[in-house]
Amino acid sequence: MQIIDSKSALSATLKNRVNIGFVPTMGNLHAGHIHLVNLAKQHADCVVVSIFVNPLQFGANEDLASYPRTLEADVQKLEAAGADIVFTPSVAELYPSFDGKNLHQTITIALPPIADALCGASRPGHFAGVATVVSKFFNIIQPQIAFFGKKDFQQLFIIRELVKQLNYPIQIMAGETVREVSGLALSSRNGYLNEAARIKASQLSQTLQGIVNMAQQGHLDFGDLERQAIQQLSTQGWQVDYVSIRNSESLSPASADHKNLVVLGAAKLDKTRLIDNIEFCAK
Ligand code: PAJ
Repeated sequence: MQIIDSKSALSATLKNRVNIGFVPTMGNLHAGHIHLVNLAKQHADCVVVSIFVNPLQFGANEDLASYPRTLEADVQKLEAAGADIVFTPSVAELYPSFDGKNLHQTITIALPPIADALCGASRPGHFAGVATVVSKFFNIIQPQIAFFGKKDFQQLFIIRELVKQLNYPIQIMAGETVREVSGLALSSRNGYLNEAARIKASQLSQTLQGIVNMAQQGHLDFGDLERQAIQQLSTQGWQVDYVSIRNSESLSPASADHKNLVVLGAAKLDKTRLIDNIEFCAK
């Protein structure tokens, strides 16, 4: 496995490679990331994984500085998983406009209103930051397939729109959410939780599963289900950002005649913001 930190060295290495599979990450790798690498191994001949904590997708009061950086352990996990290349650029390598302090001169991608809903409502500019860095990677790596987790369902949706609307000749493949036995979706941010909070954290997926169960039993007043879930989590001590039932294909608010649905939620335990979602079919 090669570890490469410059765009030019990466382009040179990839020049004669065909069927490149790309897995973008911010590092601190867990089984959810490795699941995507395994998927990439099945569908591509050369698997490139990026590790880059993208400053452009963090808000001013978010955890950019404290985001876990565990390069050595990550490299070992990728080696064991059989990745071919790890791309670990610096901020200056990826953002030529970076002056050492901020990114205000950078060109960013403007996104449609769905990027301002759900997670975008409390994280303004987050998805523009994601779309911008992902399109940089697409331009540098030029993969045939790229792999994203359903754990970040809205991100996956926006990346699919990015590829469709900007005509990237790249297939997007989704990996299922990998969870702990308790139901808690694996996330690098779970590392912020102490033991008690980690046990409590499974309440988010359990609450979303409760909505799915109710809907599948024929309870189709979605507004009511969302309100009940928010109430339940709040009572349990969460600060709820949103719980929302959406059409899983368009991410527009669900109505009772939509078949393919997803319930998404975001909430904070103390200072740790967690997200999760479950896809389901209405009766
Ligand atoms: P990061 O949070 O590191 O996630 C990298 C990829 O792993 C994403 O596609 C995410 O959906 C997937 N992933 C995370 N947890 C998962 C889980 N429990 N099961 C399955 N897949 C999981 O998402 C980002 O980084 C960044 O926004 C990025 C796309 C790299 C752009 O900076």
